[in-house]
Amino acid sequence: MADTGFDAKDFRRALSQFPTGVTVITTLDAEGNPVGVTASSFNSVSIEPALVLWSIDKGAHSLEAFEKAEYFAVNVLGREQVATSNRFASRGEDKFKDVAYKSGLGNAPILDDYAAQFECKTWAVYEGGDHLILVGEVKGYRYNDATSPLVFARGSYAVSVQHPEMVKAPLMDEAGDFVGDYLLYLLRETYSRHSAKLYPKLQEQCDVNPEEWRIMVRLADKGNLSIADLSAMVMQPEVALRQTADWLVEKGYVAYADNATLTITEHGKEIGQKLQAIAHAEEAELLSALPEEQSRQLKDNLKALLEKMA
Ligand SMILES: Cc1cc2nc3c(=O)[nH]c(=O)nc-3n(C[C@H](O)[C@H](O)[C@H](O)COP(=O)(O)O)c2cc1C
Repeated sequence: MADTGFDAKDFRRALSQFPTGVTVITTLDAEGNPVGVTASSFNSVSIEPALVLWSIDKGAHSLEAFEKAEYFAVNVLGREQVATSNRFASRGEDKFKDVAYKSGLGNAPILDDYAAQFECKTWAVYEGGDHLILVGEVKGYRYNDATSPLVFARGSYAVSVQHPEMVKAPLMDEAGDFVGDYLLYLLRETYSRHSAKLYPKLQEQCDVNPEEWRIMVRLADKGNLSIADLSAMVMQPEVALRQTADWLVEKGYVAYADNATLTITEHGKEIGQKLQAIAHAEEAELLSALPEEQSRQLKDNLKALLEKMA
């Protein structure tokens, strides 16, 4: 319990219900070395003057560099930049190794790949509890419409897709109707309708949210897995994965075999089986609309497509 009376982990969990984009904020330190940190606290502030803000943890290695920086750059990441996000969320190692970048305003590094980029002059630095709030005046910006932004919500990387309720296209293929016979649309509709039915059941019956479910199914299959392997499998950065894992540990579903490995408990195995049974039943209900042979073919065909794209 902190002084607030809040449980810090629970407070973080509540905050993580607010989805954000992901940025890598960069500058140069006093020695002229490039410095960068993954940040989801970025936000717009003002249009006239053009101001943006983000906040940095006072415990960050790069705190001093940003506190003193005259210029910094905000690189908003695109959906294909999960590895870049993970790289800049880590400590110690040379974060810029193998990352393509150029020198921008005030020599702050600007990444070659981005969804958007804002080159800023530090406008103000405010106290913000255990963080410092940095406000930048935007001196230049650019964006890349060819990529969609990387999203971060509930500790998981995500991509933004149109909300299914916004798409009022007819479901059936009608003559001349493009959307109703378009594979991407059909896949997405099937996914969103199915998951909207499944996830609440997992929550109600097993007290497991979608992020926890992804971890549970992997562990139920393998028994134990390293945090690093799981991180890639479930698309959670290690720091967030550990937070999700802590919830599962508290529920008694998983345990730490050592600091870097998670293992499923006996109780977790039972829950894992229950989760899989719920998912199978839901899948069977959906596929009962098709003859068995066609159901099998549907899955085999999707697998073949995924293999082709791997
Ligand atoms: C998706 C994501 C968002 C993050 N957002 C912030 C943030 O807004 N501010 C911050 O100080 N750290 C944030 N972090 C954590 C830092 O990236 C991490 O602590 C990093 O190690 C800091 O680097 P440094 O210690 O080399 O300065 C975030 C991490 C992730 C994975």
